[in-house]
Amino acid sequence: MSGTTQKTVTITLDGTNRKLTIPLMSGTAGADVFDIRKLYNELGVFTYDPGYGATASCESKVTYIDGDVGILQYRGYPIEQLAHHSNFLEVCYLLLNGELPNKAKADEFTKGVMHHTMLHEQIRSFYNGFRRDAHPMAVMCGVVGALSAFYHDSLDINDPESRRISAFRLIAKLPTIAAWAHKYTIGQPFMYPRNDLTYAENFLYMFHAVPTEEYKVNPVLSRAMDLIMILHADHEQNASTSTVRLAGSTGANPFACIAAGIASLWGPAHGGANEAVLKMLADIGHVDNIPEFLSEVKDKNNHAKLMGFGHRVYKNYDPRAKIIQQACHDVLKELGIEGDPLLDLAMALEKIALTDPYFIDRKLYPNVDFYSGIILKAMGFPTSMFTALFALSRTVGWITQWQELIQDPEQRIGRPRQIYTGPAERDYVGMADRT
Ligand code: CMC
Repeated sequence: MSGTTQKTVTITLDGTNRKLTIPLMSGTAGADVFDIRKLYNELGVFTYDPGYGATASCESKVTYIDGDVGILQYRGYPIEQLAHHSNFLEVCYLLLNGELPNKAKADEFTKGVMHHTMLHEQIRSFYNGFRRDAHPMAVMCGVVGALSAFYHDSLDINDPESRRISAFRLIAKLPTIAAWAHKYTIGQPFMYPRNDLTYAENFLYMFHAVPTEEYKVNPVLSRAMDLIMILHADHEQNASTSTVRLAGSTGANPFACIAAGIASLWGPAHGGANEAVLKMLADIGHVDNIPEFLSEVKDKNNHAKLMGFGHRVYKNYDPRAKIIQQACHDVLKELGIEGDPLLDLAMALEKIALTDPYFIDRKLYPNVDFYSGIILKAMGFPTSMFTALFALSRTVGWITQWQELIQDPEQRIGRPRQIYTGPAERDYVGMADRT
């Protein structure tokens, strides 16, 4: 691991003379970390950290978050600058390669990724195995996992070229998989990808177009789509990324690892929150009902949460939420939607929550999911697609982190320990002697 400092801490196990000096490591930015790898061998104890709130699971050069001030950077570049100046495939290049591309490299990368947008024709038949009302995330988990049965030529995780092609395949095919999940549900023909369009345009085309009519991509909507993808592209060691890394640490192939990431993202505490926010807003229904809803949220005996609020790392406004809130206004204006009731309700809810001591004391602020559902709904996406859109945008982050893991000489199979609190050893009792 890089960045060892001169600082150490020495701990002595009470009642023994066993001591361990633990080195403190420093990264480029962020809190220092204790390197506790020798703890068990030297002192015979583990650390206890459910939810890993105080544990750095790896060294990473990809994404940096300072949750106290609300900073998010990909490879050092602030998310605000990338959102303003960049485009999704350029961000993909940056995440995967560590640097922004020059024109020639950007063109080559775009061509390289877009070359892989088609799915193996036999994958079409997978869709027929699902019920028409299958949730798109269920379809995504299944179809992405199945990619490993189709692309045997890029499964060697120790071969850099195989890893590169798998990354391209995943980034390129996820929009096709997601768009087809929707088309299958509504009974429309699958639209084949068009590589003459940009990544975001191609997705909107596959999602909205039908073979019988010309489809013109609205540039404001494709820019909003691109922006949403940039904002969701990576977020360091969150639950789904850690799932991808854990699966990857066993040597599993990249398609299987990304399928695991999609499954992990689905939960309402993580990527499923964007869908849950819209359901919550629909349930609240009117500004007048906000106080009653918030008192339910604050009631310890009630499991309700203010969805789209709170974050393990951000104890300040999520910078992505700020950008997406502005984009929401732009998209609604472009679509001629004046005073969208959902947006009005969300903004009123945010305002009330941000002045409520419960949320102030706990440093609970809007996260990216608070406004993303509203913009996605305005863009014509059904609620069930929201998390699928998150998954397709996050695929580049997952595959980048997976690549980093595979190339990290310090990584071993991920294998947490536990405090066992079950019964102590006891003898088997025959059925006849049991009470
Ligand atoms: N509504 C009401 N209370 C909350 C909320 C919320 N959304 N989030 C946290 N709290 C309370 C929590 O009950 C706890 O209270 P107390 O100290 O009285 O026990 C306190 O705030 C600290 O919360 P925590 O549970 O320790 O926080 P965590 O880091 O374990 O959980 C979270 C983070 C994101 C899972 C949680 O804030 C949450 O469930 N939020 C709603 C779901 C959501 O919006 N998820 C999207 C996250 S951002 C995008 C992504 O990562 O996918």
